[in-house]
Amino acid sequence: MDVHVVSKTDNNTHATFSLPTPTSPLAGPSSLRIRPSLLSLTSNNLTYALLGNQLKWWDAYPVPSNAPTPYNDASAWGIVPAWGFGTVLESTIESIAPGTKLWGYWPASGHVVDLALKHEPDEPSTHWIEVSPHRQTLLALYNRYLISTSDDETRHAWEASVRPVWQCAYVLSAYVFTPDPASNPAIHPYPGIPSVKETWTSADADLSRAVVISLAASSKTARAVAHNFTLRPTSGGPLGLLQVTSAPGPIQSAATALKPHFATRAVDYTSLDTEEVAQWIAALKPAKILVIDFGSRDGGFEAAHKLVSQDEVLAKAEFVTVNIGYQQKVYTMSDVGAALASAAEHSKIQFNTSPVIEAILPVQGATKLFAGLEKAWDHWLENREAAAPDLQLVWGEGVVGEKGIEGAWTRLTRGEVKPEEALVFRI
Ligand SMILES: NC(=O)c1ccc[n+]([C@@H]2O[C@H](COP(=O)([O-])OP(=O)(O)OC[C@H]3O[C@@H](n4cnc5c(N)ncnc54)[C@H](OP(=O)(O)O)[C@@H]3O)[C@@H](O)[C@H]2O)c1
Repeated sequence: MDVHVVSKTDNNTHATFSLPTPTSPLAGPSSLRIRPSLLSLTSNNLTYALLGNQLKWWDAYPVPSNAPTPYNDASAWGIVPAWGFGTVLESTIESIAPGTKLWGYWPASGHVVDLALKHEPDEPSTHWIEVSPHRQTLLALYNRYLISTSDDETRHAWEASVRPVWQCAYVLSAYVFTPDPASNPAIHPYPGIPSVKETWTSADADLSRAVVISLAASSKTARAVAHNFTLRPTSGGPLGLLQVTSAPGPIQSAATALKPHFATRAVDYTSLDTEEVAQWIAALKPAKILVIDFGSRDGGFEAAHKLVSQDEVLAKAEFVTVNIGYQQKVYTMSDVGAALASAAEHSKIQFNTSPVIEAILPVQGATKLFAGLEKAWDHWLENREAAAPDLQLVWGEGVVGEKGIEGAWTRLTRGEVKPEEALVFRI
């Protein structure tokens, strides 16, 4: 089995090695032995490494104890998790037979792993929760596995590469910025964590008189927000969506093809300097300007802030920034310091999908939450060519070498993965 490890202190440094397949019996009841079989990599995986200590992502799949030196040093090396499908090899769960495919959180690696899964009666029948003690430091989102009911590899590839970050967009649009608080309550962008906003009211969630500026609009997460906005009732807003990206052509095509009920415009970063873009926003007469930053390129946020703050009309609107993600690169300590300073200076509100879902579950129930989510995800799958006309599945094979996880990790750390690429791997 090929294993891929990343240096915890310098995410540019990574390595592969081989281990024998485990032969020990499964630990007990509710156990599965699984081989990651279809994985994806996006900029999101760089975040798992960047914040792996803080958000415990390194805890998901510790480097196996029989790894060779120096990779057996857990303080120095870790396994970055990745979304996708695993195939069950052995099972002590009666209803999950060998050969079953599960969607969820796997090692970005080729080694076989054991899971302990439990099904809760109030959860949808295909949802199982990981209950191993070492996984309880993780946020709940990463311990949820779904049994696949499809054998369609292309569908699986989109579910591996887009659905994980698309979920973020769904809860952001349907709950954090709910268009209908009576049905879906307004949920704080990062419940349970000290924030510049201690409470989150229906007024905070209201986009009916807002223009949204999406930065790094070609990221899969931002594309998913644009898609979810089109599913909102007209009364829920926004008035307009300005998508700022290095790839305005395809993003504008998607914006038009999805036939949104709001005004849309896709521009490159340099256009944020132009009077004409400020006038486009001002013509919509927003009471609120919401910037959602998915990991904009250098200077992107500052340019958006300048556009609004230096315009006499726009400066009167309420200015809110929600921070979702980071650039496609390995952050240095000084980059991290600059990001934190900018967040403090501009009162940016951090968003985190997992605590949002955890806050929705007790008030809404799993059945209602996931029924709404599945319906909207099916809409994305059915309308994929409109929602992301340029996005292509780029298939790789295995772990080792240029075509595998190893080569893709190098490309991600160098910011070489293009907006139109959805990297997927048959392992
Ligand atoms: N907070 C949460 O709960 C949450 C949930 C989901 C995702 N995220 C985060 O959101 C971010 C985006 O994730 P993703 O998987 O959607 O990303 P992705 O599909 O890989 O897209 C990355 C985008 O980053 C932009 N970019 C910025 N700097 C770049 C550079 N130096 N080189 C290349 N591209 C660069 C590009 O957009 P432009 O060309 O348009 O600038 C590119 O399309 C990640 O940081 C992820 O962790 C957070």
